[in-house]
Amino acid sequence: MTRRYYVTTPIYYVNGAPHIGHAYTSVAADVIARFKRLAGFDVFFLTGTDEHGQKVEQAAEAKGMQPQAFADAVATDFRDMYDTMDISYDDFIRTTEPRHVQAAQALWKKLEENGHIYLGAYEGWYATRDECFYGEEELIDGPDGRKVAPTGAAVEWVKEPSYFFNLSKFGDRLLELYETRPGFIEPASRRNEVKSFVKQGLRDLSVSRTSFNWGIPVPGDPKHVMYVWVDALANYLSAVGYPDETAARWAFWPPNLHLVGKDILRFHAIYWPALLMAADLPLPERVFSHGWWTIEGQKMSKSLGNVVDPRDLVKTFGLDAIRFFLMREMPFGGDSDLSRRAIITRMNVELANDLGNLAQRTLSQVARNCDGKLPAQGKQTDEDRELLATASLLPDIMHQQIDRQALTDALEEVWKLIRACNSYIDHQAPWKLKKTDPQRMADVLRVLTDALRIIATVLQPYMPGSMDRMLIQLGVEEGERSTFAALDVPLPAGRVLPKPEGVFPRYEEPEAS
Ligand code: MSP
Repeated sequence: MTRRYYVTTPIYYVNGAPHIGHAYTSVAADVIARFKRLAGFDVFFLTGTDEHGQKVEQAAEAKGMQPQAFADAVATDFRDMYDTMDISYDDFIRTTEPRHVQAAQALWKKLEENGHIYLGAYEGWYATRDECFYGEEELIDGPDGRKVAPTGAAVEWVKEPSYFFNLSKFGDRLLELYETRPGFIEPASRRNEVKSFVKQGLRDLSVSRTSFNWGIPVPGDPKHVMYVWVDALANYLSAVGYPDETAARWAFWPPNLHLVGKDILRFHAIYWPALLMAADLPLPERVFSHGWWTIEGQKMSKSLGNVVDPRDLVKTFGLDAIRFFLMREMPFGGDSDLSRRAIITRMNVELANDLGNLAQRTLSQVARNCDGKLPAQGKQTDEDRELLATASLLPDIMHQQIDRQALTDALEEVWKLIRACNSYIDHQAPWKLKKTDPQRMADVLRVLTDALRIIATVLQPYMPGSMDRMLIQLGVEEGERSTFAALDVPLPAGRVLPKPEGVFPRYEEPEAS
């Protein structure tokens, strides 16, 4: 039986251009999806855009555009960012697509049928920027003394007829879920925040709006549009064919992993499982929430004018340097700072020096001293065996880390091996063996190319383009690198390797001379 894996990113609001925060979640999900594919899983990697609601409507208005035309343009821009970042998504869902509208309405009807929706009137605070209702007690004092949301977003008093979802009835079941399946919310620190929020008691959730109409009409009462978060969360269902449980993709339900930023954990860890329970649907396995990037020490914001478009970084530093930086610099789950200095340091120390030089030194010696042909696996010393044993354990160790979303630790594991290879090459000094013991020189170089093959294979999910180039230089053909299982078959000796070329050049500051 094929093992399936369903991973999602949030669907992004189309109120503005894509930025580094969007790229970050998407690269993380991409690394996980690519890794699981290498491990032999049948993966469904979903992403997309969240196109309804007041925030998008207002952004369109500000541009003098119809919301749909505006959403079309921004969604296209998101896809362009995804192409630039080489995101291997299997489906890109847009909430204005008919397949989604139908699924969201079907979910609504199911909730209604099950007696979880009632008509009432909402009176309270709403923050359009967060598309979130807040209780009075959650508000804080803003800089000008006015009350604002805990996120700093402006709030307004809303009073309108509204349908409600009886969320308050699900508190105990949610707490039981967090107790019995601790892995449902990761990391643990965030799980505790969610638990205490639920323990305080949940209010019923207003799930429709009547004061604007850019949304999915409520079935049977089109004066109301569905609350954008209920609409948005339903995307995870619509992409797998809901409500048609005979759809081929339905086999992927429930998701193995929802990756989200810490700001939207509440929606995914409270509202979403409650809605699914109410609709009698199996729950996702895990919601993992990651931290936020600051930019050169400051919060990223339109008002500060420091919003980073990942495509600009790629132009300056190259795609894989940026993918690597994003996954390496921020311990996955924590917060971190994105700075030019930090990017350059990672590029020069870890990519150019540690990995790039290792490959270059090994391959240039094979080119020069082994006639450009892959040496045979020779007689191994304890040191050889130790290095290769560490290397061969790597895919499994990383797999366990990837399953815990420890994406940074997994990289650290690879770098331990890279550093070990660098000590090995210094210690064995194959360039000296050339004269004294050419057989041993060839054996050492073969140990190194075998270790490098494993290193480059496991790094493919993080840096697909560069690792492709490195694997080609190592003489590894496509079928020999598309699964971890392929690593069990040694490459034939004597294979002619292409001329080695540096994969990770050092980055020199243009202004520094
Ligand atoms: N549309 C909702 C999600 C609906 S999912 C059913 C939404 N969209 S968003 O466009 O605001 O994108 C949010 C994602 O980007 C979140 O996961 C958020 O954490 C992430 N980021 C936004 N700024 C960020 C940083 N500065 N750093 C890291 N991630 C950040 O919320």
